[in-house]
Amino acid sequence: MKHYLVTGGAGFIGANYVKYILKEHSDIQLVILDDLTYAGNLGTIKDDLKDPRVEFVKGSIVDPQIVQSIFEKHPIDFVVNFAAESHVDRSIENPQLFLQTNILGTQNMLDTAKKFWTVGKDEKGYPIYREGVKYLQVSTDEVYGSLGETGYFTEKTPLDPRSPYSASKTGADLIVVAYSETYKMPVNITRCSNNYGPYHFPEKLIPLIIKNILEGKKLPVYGDGSNVRDWLYVEDHCKAIDSVLLRGRTGEVYNVGGHNEMKNIDIVKLTIATIRRLLEENPEYGKALKFSSPDLSWLNDDLITFVKDRLGHDQRYAIDPTKITTELGWYPETKFADGIVKTIRWYLENQDWVEEVTSGDYQKYYEQMYGNR
Ligand SMILES: NC(=O)c1ccc[n+]([C@@H]2O[C@H](COP(=O)([O-])OP(=O)(O)OC[C@H]3O[C@@H](n4cnc5c(N)ncnc54)[C@H](O)[C@@H]3O)[C@@H](O)[C@H]2O)c1
Repeated sequence: MKHYLVTGGAGFIGANYVKYILKEHSDIQLVILDDLTYAGNLGTIKDDLKDPRVEFVKGSIVDPQIVQSIFEKHPIDFVVNFAAESHVDRSIENPQLFLQTNILGTQNMLDTAKKFWTVGKDEKGYPIYREGVKYLQVSTDEVYGSLGETGYFTEKTPLDPRSPYSASKTGADLIVVAYSETYKMPVNITRCSNNYGPYHFPEKLIPLIIKNILEGKKLPVYGDGSNVRDWLYVEDHCKAIDSVLLRGRTGEVYNVGGHNEMKNIDIVKLTIATIRRLLEENPEYGKALKFSSPDLSWLNDDLITFVKDRLGHDQRYAIDPTKITTELGWYPETKFADGIVKTIRWYLENQDWVEEVTSGDYQKYYEQMYGNR
């Protein structure tokens, strides 16, 4: 039996990971620690919270008391740290919050895990850890900076972050490395490309485009839309994280990429075309539209509107995932053509979730489930 502590488990990737490990492993116990910021929604994991293997704790990874109390109560074997401020645009507005959560929060998680996992010291004074424990930091390809038209990020690419968000994630990665080197703590870092899939908060590109289309609004695209991202289906990412946690070599970094580079403008055009096709094929999906629309002639590329580019907008990210494929046999199983249809169908069928998370109604789940504790 393994005891997982998953932070940020009410966010996009964390919630998908919670669902993934509950499905894949019967013999686990799971504590989810999440501060329920605007990006964390209990509604996303409400069914998972009914599972007797799961306990939810509302609190911040920056708070030593909260994290310590979890380790006191549960014999945690694995920490998987998803919790972060994750939106580049927000980091440009408020860098300090990003440094607090992403760097100090990571350091607090590491420090508490180190304290509870240490069972002795070796002859050189390094801590000896309880058998089978590991800390995994979920990081991003953005720590590598920006690429030109060619080349890929490997695990050896120098760190070269550009935005307050990526700088804070880089700081966190370096603290993880420091705990590995200085205290010989068992850690891994995974660095992934842009995720897409169900439960993605509608401020990020794909869910925002879907939401705007369903509301009949314009579709804002930064600059000329030529920025390139590598897109990874979220469930493939969850599988990669779990493979690294269970089988990755201690102390190693693993890049996780989708082998799927696309320009933002092409993602937007494909999303428009796919929604239109799905609406035409299945009139039931028309219920997802927020206005009555006898025909779909308006649903075309003219909805796109180019807006002033993001400050310091990185031009291209592309990941070389050879290491994780060679060592752990992981590869991105979901082809983008399939993943984008799955994702759009999910949004068309789950408009209640979108309304809940954007209206703040999800807070009610917290009151209902935990209000009296
Ligand atoms: N989404 C992507 O495409 C992507 C790509 C690369 C890396 N990542 C990394 O993956 C991780 C998860 O990303 P995501 O897209 O799911 O993010 P998200 O913004 O959807 O979710 C973040 C979660 O962390 C929680 N949180 C924020 N501050 C907290 C704090 N102080 N204490 C406890 N919980 C806190 C939020 O409530 C939310 O549930 C992040 O570390 C991010 O940097 C994401």
